[in-house]
Order: sequence, then C-alpha cells, then structure tokens
Amino acid sequence: MVMDGVPTVIRGTGSYAPSRVLRNEDLTGIVDTTDEWIVTRTGIRERRIAAEDEATSDLAVPAARAAMEMAGLGPEDIDAVIVCTLTPDMLFPSTACLVQSLLGLRRGIPAFDVDAACSGFVYGLESARGLLAASRKYRNVLLVGAEKLSAILDWTDRSTCVLFGDGAGAIVLTRGEEGPGGHILATDLGSDGVNSGLIHMPAGGSRVPASPHSLEGRQHFLKMNGREVFKLAVRAMVASAERVLEEAGVSPQDLVGIIPHQANIRIIESVAQYLKLPLTLFPNNVHLYGNTSAASVPLAFDEAIRAGKLSQPGPLLLIAFGAGLTWGSTLLHWEPLS
Ligand SMILES: CC(C)(COP(=O)(O)OP(=O)(O)OC[C@H]1O[C@@H](n2cnc3c(N)ncnc32)[C@H](O)[C@@H]1OP(=O)(O)O)[C@@H](O)C(=O)NCCC(=O)NCCS
Repeated sequence: MVMDGVPTVIRGTGSYAPSRVLRNEDLTGIVDTTDEWIVTRTGIRERRIAAEDEATSDLAVPAARAAMEMAGLGPEDIDAVIVCTLTPDMLFPSTACLVQSLLGLRRGIPAFDVDAACSGFVYGLESARGLLAASRKYRNVLLVGAEKLSAILDWTDRSTCVLFGDGAGAIVLTRGEEGPGGHILATDLGSDGVNSGLIHMPAGGSRVPASPHSLEGRQHFLKMNGREVFKLAVRAMVASAERVLEEAGVSPQDLVGIIPHQANIRIIESVAQYLKLPLTLFPNNVHLYGNTSAASVPLAFDEAIRAGKLSQPGPLLLIAFGAGLTWGSTLLHWEPLS
C-alpha cells in the first residue's frame, strides 16, 4: 500500500544531544520548583543544554551525519536539505544553508527551513516527500529537526524553563518501493492560527523588533499557557492520528509503534488512552530530554530504532503538536532498519 505519488522511504536516522545534562535538582537552584513537581506533572527528569558556542546548526550536523551513515550515503548523494527549527542560528540565512555548508553537501542543491514549532518534523517530512514527488532530480532528501531551546527560555519563569531542552534528530528520505525503512503511507497536517497566542515568542520579529523596551519586558523568551495547550494537544493529536489511520484503512490495533512528540508523559498517556492502546507501543525519552520541539520526534525515532524497540514490521505512526497551533501525523509502513 503506497500513498498517491512517488513512493518514498526513510532509509536512515540519526540523532545528537549536547553533553551537558541539567537535572531537575539543578533547576531547584534556579527557580522555585521541585523534582517531585516536575516529574509528576511532566515525566521529565533531566534535559540537555547546548554549550554557549554551540548553535542549532552544530547540533544538526552530527545527527545528519549519523542518518546519512545509516542510509549508506555521502554528502554528494544528498539532493536537498531541510531543517525544521524554531530556534534557527539566526533569522536568516536559513539554518539549512549553514548545515549544507558544514556537511559539505553539493553547492547548488535547495536548502530551506520549516518552522511549524514542535510539529516541524512532520511538516518537514511532507515537504521532503513533496520534493521527491515534484521532480526526478531529487532522489535523497536530508531532513533535520534541531533546536537550541535553552537560548529562548526565560530562566526566571518556572512554568516554562523546566519543560524544554536542546537536541537534534535527522532522517534521509529516498525514492523507493522496496526494502527496509519507513515507507510513507499517509499524512495529516493541520493548523489553528486563532490560538497562536498560546505559545509564542513576542519579540525579535517584525511585529516587535529588538529594543531596550522589548529586552526589559523579557519579550525575547518563549511564553506559554500550559494548561490550555495541554488540552488542545491531546485533542489535536488524537484527531490527527484517527484521520490518517482512517485514510489508510489501518486500525489503531494494527500499529506496531507510535512515536509521539515528547512534550509531557501525561500528554502521551492521554493520547494512548483515547486511542485505546497500551503505553508500551509509545517509545518515549521525555524523561531524558524534556521537550526538544522539532527535534523530539526524530530523536525519539532514532533512539527507538537503535535500541531495537522497533523490531516488528507493520504500520508505524509519528504524531506531533506544537505552537501555531500546528499538528500532524505521518503513517509509515515500517520494515525494520536492522
Ligand atoms: C505546563 C504543565 C506541566 C503545567 O501542569 P498543570 O498541571 O497544568 O499545572 P498548572 O499550570 O495548573 O499549575 C499548577 C501550579 O503549579 C505552579 N507551577 C508552575 N510551574 C511550576 C514549577 N516548575 N514548579 C512548581 N510549581 C509550578 C503554578 O504556578 C500553579 O500554581 P498556582 O496553582 O498556585 O497558580 C502542563 O500544563 C503542560 O504540560 N502543558 C503542556 C505544555 C506543553 O507541553 N507545551 C508544548 C506543547 S508542544
């Protein structure tokens, strides 16, 4: 079973997390919080924090190299590069152009960023599939989700700074019908801009350019209404999963695994409950990394593959939700990548 258009398959995955670990106990010295509060409300125990001189592109590069290596491809084989991020190295040029140069990919190939916040990776996957469908000149697309969220966290706001971390995940998407990997069967993407104010960073763009006033108002940091986001995240992820499964004629009970966005273990538990599926089908690493936004799905996907947690062939679902609001699901036919 293959969706409309050119068959595409994920042939390799990779991930990278910076070495510095920030534990919940460490946060108790920064804001008024406790390990117990963070663990019971979110499941998060620690997160990784990039070094001062490590930007998003620096996290993207090792993840991308690992994905290319698994796919058996070199820099000369990549025909386009997409980076999904809400924390680009700078507003422009795109982080994808920086990654192209750092990896030594061919000069002249298309490179662009996708910003759909925590849904970025599933949006990027559809963009990569679109390129492969658009022209035979694309055979292998490198897709990276990478974030340095620590750079936009307000370390005086306990309601947000405990939730996020830094990291990167990558895949190579290739034309192909046969063989191991994740064959894309169906995709569902959506958005709701009416609720754009629920998670946002007010300043630094054209609406509120940087000024002494914006700095004083701490407007260059991520702001979030966590309680509202929680409810909408569960509803949107469940509805998106149901749509994509219905479109492909696959029953939830047939799934061999679900890789959800890793924001909060309670969100993952609620999604499992609504879909009437056991939590064991949902590989998760939120306790180790917190919410790494666009990096979270490919990071969890890569870790699950390398840990041998996706050893059964069958339908596999990726689901995400994020600022925008945005959401999305990609249904794969999974043939284990050893
Ligand atoms: C953020 C989140 C963990 C908060 O959990 P919650 O159960 O909804 O908690 P509430 O927001 O109701 O806050 C409860 C209390 O804890 C306090 N609190 C918030 N952060 C705290 C922290 N780090 N430590 C201790 N107390 C904290 C609040 O001030 C509030 O106190 P109050 O009742 O005296 O006002 C939860 O709403 C969530 O995970 N939302 C989704 C966030 C998310 O994943 N966003 C990204 C999606 S892509």
